[in-house]
Amino acid sequence: MKVFYFSGTGNSLAVARDLALKLKAEMISIASIIYQEKINIGDNFGIVFPVYNQGIPYIIKRFVQKLDNIEKKYIFSICTYGNNPGISLKYLASEIKKIGGNLSCGFAVQMPYNYVTPSLTLKKFFKSFTLREIPIEKQENMFYNWKNKLEEIYEYINNENVGKIETKAKVIENIIDFLNLREVLQKRVWLKIGNFKGKTNLNFLESIQLYDHAFHCDDNCSSCAICKNVCPIQNIEIKNNKPIWLHHCEQCFACLQWCPKEAIQFGEKTKNKKRYHHPDVSLKDLIN
Ligand SMILES: Cc1cc2nc3c(=O)[nH]c(=O)nc-3n(C[C@H](O)[C@H](O)[C@H](O)COP(=O)(O)O)c2cc1C
Ligand code: SF4
Ligand code: SF4
Repeated sequence: MKVFYFSGTGNSLAVARDLALKLKAEMISIASIIYQEKINIGDNFGIVFPVYNQGIPYIIKRFVQKLDNIEKKYIFSICTYGNNPGISLKYLASEIKKIGGNLSCGFAVQMPYNYVTPSLTLKKFFKSFTLREIPIEKQENMFYNWKNKLEEIYEYINNENVGKIETKAKVIENIIDFLNLREVLQKRVWLKIGNFKGKTNLNFLESIQLYDHAFHCDDNCSSCAICKNVCPIQNIEIKNNKPIWLHHCEQCFACLQWCPKEAIQFGEKTKNKKRYHHPDVSLKDLIN
């Protein structure tokens, strides 16, 4: 059994690690193998990933497209999410189906939210996005709930049970899909929040790579290059002792959340907001 994971702030890594330990499975970082042309797993496997925009990260789609020979495999998935897992598991299932596989089961685990969210003000909406600060007690509650749920998920997967998909599309999400609003509306809104000013033919999922136009670094930067090293897909270079972003971003927020000087900002409202990463995951765990 293998457990593949993608993680920016450690939530999905912690979940993958806890489960892999119980299943006696090998843990593999998706970012470390994404540049392979084909990925032949030869084993039953699982995919652990964070929910992005109620769907899957772009890297997860690319990963699935590279999988070879998965027709008769037992495949499970766990998504970690902040407040709404949306239809991420449905999307994943349909990507797996396209290459002849079948998602055997899927679970959703709530973890602290690590992305930006609009502030209450409607004034300058596009510039109002800030970090959500989750109280420590709430975070600890989520970690506690995960440890309780782990046993149930482990039993289900270890027995190779089939059929449970924990997230369901809400009516509104089906309507959004039916009207193609992600492409027509959501893409434009997010490109604006991501401070991208040009034109692009990329679709909604792919266009996330351009939101890094909103990243910048302030005078607190000590030129330590942690942001460059923690970036899972080498989207950061250090130039003149400061990071620059190369516009093939996954928006995992690792650079912003792990910067020891809190010097990386996204837009105008993240300065002096508390940073987050999973307390049991170290920088070394993530970079490995
Ligand atoms: C680009 C991006 C988009 C996100 N979108 C959602 C979302 O639609 N719904 C949600 O509940 N959480 C969302 N989140 C929060 C993450 O899914 C959640 O915090 C996750 O546990 C982070 O996992 P990680 O620490 O392994 O990166 C988003 C996070 C990022 C970075
Ligand atoms: S991690 Fe922060 S302090 Fe270090 S180089 Fe990057 S921006 Fe500067
Ligand atoms: S640039 Fe930052 S947000 Fe983008 S992929 Fe790299 S670490 Fe993640």
